[in-house]
Amino acid sequence: MTEDEQAALDETARKLFSGPIAFLKSAPQLKFLPDPTVSEVAFAGRSNVGKSSLLNRLANRNGLARTSNTPGRTQELNFFDVGEPLRFRLVDMPGYGFAKAPPEVVKQWRRLINDFLRGRAVLKRALVLVDSRHGLKDIDREVMKMLDEAAVNYHLVLTKADKIKASELAAVEERTAAEARAHSAAHPEIVVTSSETGLGIDRLRRAVIEAAL
Ligand code: GTP
Ligand code: MG
Repeated sequence: MTEDEQAALDETARKLFSGPIAFLKSAPQLKFLPDPTVSEVAFAGRSNVGKSSLLNRLANRNGLARTSNTPGRTQELNFFDVGEPLRFRLVDMPGYGFAKAPPEVVKQWRRLINDFLRGRAVLKRALVLVDSRHGLKDIDREVMKMLDEAAVNYHLVLTKADKIKASELAAVEERTAAEARAHSAAHPEIVVTSSETGLGIDRLRRAVIEAAL
């Protein structure tokens, strides 16, 4: 990409993410999904990794998506319309791998998440969020494999970078990048973020815009 193209993309991102963004609806089951009329980018990842917080930071507004200290806060697929007229949608997902919920609930979320990620034709990219303190877990690897098989492009995003030392962060980024290289649908670049400090937010906005527009 040339510098001019990059600058144009940044300008589009700045406009879209500071302009109208509105909650559209929650879907507890696939039959409640909005009509697939426009591109979508989804936030996936284990419970409590910071999906809803990152969506809020990206959209530059607190409280758009609900966040909580307690894992299992987001329980449905939440759709947010970006742009007026509508340009694309952001989708905040429930966390996977939340062991404390009743097994039936875990199963139900799991099915909802998998079916959505695998079967949504308008899904342009998934952001797979990983807590930088923990790195990739087997459950993440399962989701990555599923996305590879469904040929859904995804970006691995390290979250809560403010919580660990720079040296540890560099090491987890390197390990994560090495694993990404072995996955056909994973973007080779790892985006390192903090919803607390704003680290990596511009980069992530660009990645979303590139995928969605
Ligand atoms: P579920 O909806 O339960 O799956 O969680 P989630 O992935 O949406 O996480 P959420 O955004 O609700 O954040 C979980 C907790 O982590 C909250 O207490 C946030 O304040 C905190 N958190 C999220 N992002 C960051 C970050 O970048 N830095 C720090 N220090 N805390 C964060
Ligand atoms: Mg959430």
